[in-house]
Amino acid sequence: MKLDSLHRRIETLNKERFAPGLPDVDLEAELAREHELRFLEDEAIERERSAVAARVAHIPSDGAGFSRWFESLETVGPGQRDALFPWLADHASREQMRWFLHQELAAEGALDDLIALVQVHMPERAKLELARNVWDELGRGQPGAMHRHMRARLALALHLDGAEVPVLWEAAAVNNLMIGLAANRRYAYHAIGALGVTELTGSGRAAQVLAGLKRLGVPADARQYYADHASVDKAHARAWIREVIEPLAASSPKVARAIAEGALIRLEAGRRCFERYRRELGVRAVAPIQLRRPALGTPPTGLPPVRENKSDLVSPATSTGCTPPRDVLQTPR
Ligand SMILES: [Fe+2]
Ligand SMILES: [Fe+2]
Repeated sequence: MKLDSLHRRIETLNKERFAPGLPDVDLEAELAREHELRFLEDEAIERERSAVAARVAHIPSDGAGFSRWFESLETVGPGQRDALFPWLADHASREQMRWFLHQELAAEGALDDLIALVQVHMPERAKLELARNVWDELGRGQPGAMHRHMRARLALALHLDGAEVPVLWEAAAVNNLMIGLAANRRYAYHAIGALGVTELTGSGRAAQVLAGLKRLGVPADARQYYADHASVDKAHARAWIREVIEPLAASSPKVARAIAEGALIRLEAGRRCFERYRRELGVRAVAPIQLRRPALGTPPTGLPPVRENKSDLVSPATSTGCTPPRDVLQTPR
């Protein structure tokens, strides 16, 4: 099955997967659905694992060495310093930003639930940090501070929910892979890597999206999701590496490798999204990733120009029906 079809099918099967239910279901139909989903999910994840296998063959197996390797992903990992984000900060129109957020919020999924799934039967030290992370995701008990609430406020303010633009398969794939890793215990350590690297790499991109939202006059309450992630994810990442990643990686080279694979799978899925977003938005790619940039916070030079002219945007022939934001996401009147 082609990768886009595979992820479309998994996306459909995942829709009601974790919805609380009642015993009055058709058990055979439920099991058949589960059977199909688990096989497709395995296929999707194993394809991604094969693609990153060579890159994890020689990672350090001691805890401290592994932590350094893991932290380096923030600068040299797949999809880092993508040209899309400075463009969103400085150039994207309101409609283009709305299109991006429509895709990106679909890709990000419900991290609170995923972390809660992953912590099952984890060693005490890791379990406690995962619990603290879930508590932060849940707004430390304050409904308005729950990250899912913040997302909902952003979606509401920008009228994203009524958008009839399909989510790109690349964005659906990020969510599918994160769910697949977290929901299957054989990928529990992969999920740890994928979730940990999300914390590690999220704040820089969140800061650039936040800058774009500010520039476009989106109210502070609506942009709180990105304001919080631009700041708290740094602290989350430090805590994850100290309490979860390093001790688990030190426990076994196989676990270290699984964490590393999970991290790279997540970053590759993100990179695939950013490339597609740029293509759809007509953002010209600059040099991909500068592996030896002088300083972590140095912004890339030569920002890609925005091509507002419709004729400059990607040809519909290269699209798969997920129309780029050429006034598609109209604010409802
Ligand atoms: Fe969050
Ligand atoms: Fe976080």
